[in-house]
Amino acid sequence: MYGPGDHNPLSPARTGRTATDIAASKGERRLAMLTAYDYPTALALDGCGLDLILVGDSLGEVELGFPSTRDVSVEMMCHHIRAVAHGATRTHIVGDMPADSYRTPDEAVATATRLVEAGADSVKLEGAMVPEVLAIIDAGIPVMGHVGLLPQTHEERRRRGKTPEEAEAINADAIALAEAGCYAIVIEAVDPEVSGRITAAVGVPTIGIAAGAETDGQVLVSTDLIGQLPEPPRFVTPKANVFQTVIDAGVAFAREVRGEVPAGTRS
Ligand code: KIV
Repeated sequence: MYGPGDHNPLSPARTGRTATDIAASKGERRLAMLTAYDYPTALALDGCGLDLILVGDSLGEVELGFPSTRDVSVEMMCHHIRAVAHGATRTHIVGDMPADSYRTPDEAVATATRLVEAGADSVKLEGAMVPEVLAIIDAGIPVMGHVGLLPQTHEERRRRGKTPEEAEAINADAIALAEAGCYAIVIEAVDPEVSGRITAAVGVPTIGIAAGAETDGQVLVSTDLIGQLPEPPRFVTPKANVFQTVIDAGVAFAREVRGEVPAGTRS
């Protein structure tokens, strides 16, 4: 029976960290998580020493060109989780629950089950959805929480936790999620001092994005890390320029086809 800490039985070859391992790594190991949405990226990232691969609903914005993550459906998530699971046969895969797919505990369990059937080892959802988290865990599926900036509901993309009231609300959300049984919690775009306080307050690892260095790990959108789109967010220093590499390859191919350079010549 599939349960917290086990690998997805549909991916028996997966040998990476389980949700239980991740939860136990607090204070022992800093966690590295990157997103992936397709087979080739997952294949490449699977051997990088990452702790987790997240099939994020950022899929909508960075891979499908939608204006918002809200445009992503459960079907789309399953389609991309399947592709990632084919490429990443070892690393723990987290499937993001898209907007409006976990409005009640029953709906949350149905969605989480579909993501696991597609190949996810655990699921992530946004906000202090405690009854939904409890129901999913009760169904045997590990859950990662997500606090701070919640792109599925917050229109304004600004750093959170700048006022004492907002900081306290985020802190309370994180504590509620940890108490509900989440094995790790993403903290997105939160004042670094507040993320540090949350990290000290909860017993499970926090994984930050634009939330300072005081978290137990870091997550980035891989598209930003590898420079696959022309304008990465300001908090990311891309480690490659895949956008330019694709342009260079396309131009070289077009010139070669037209006989402007001998076949096999670079540029
Ligand atoms: O969808 C996503 O990529 C995410 C990360 C920003 C954590 O939720």
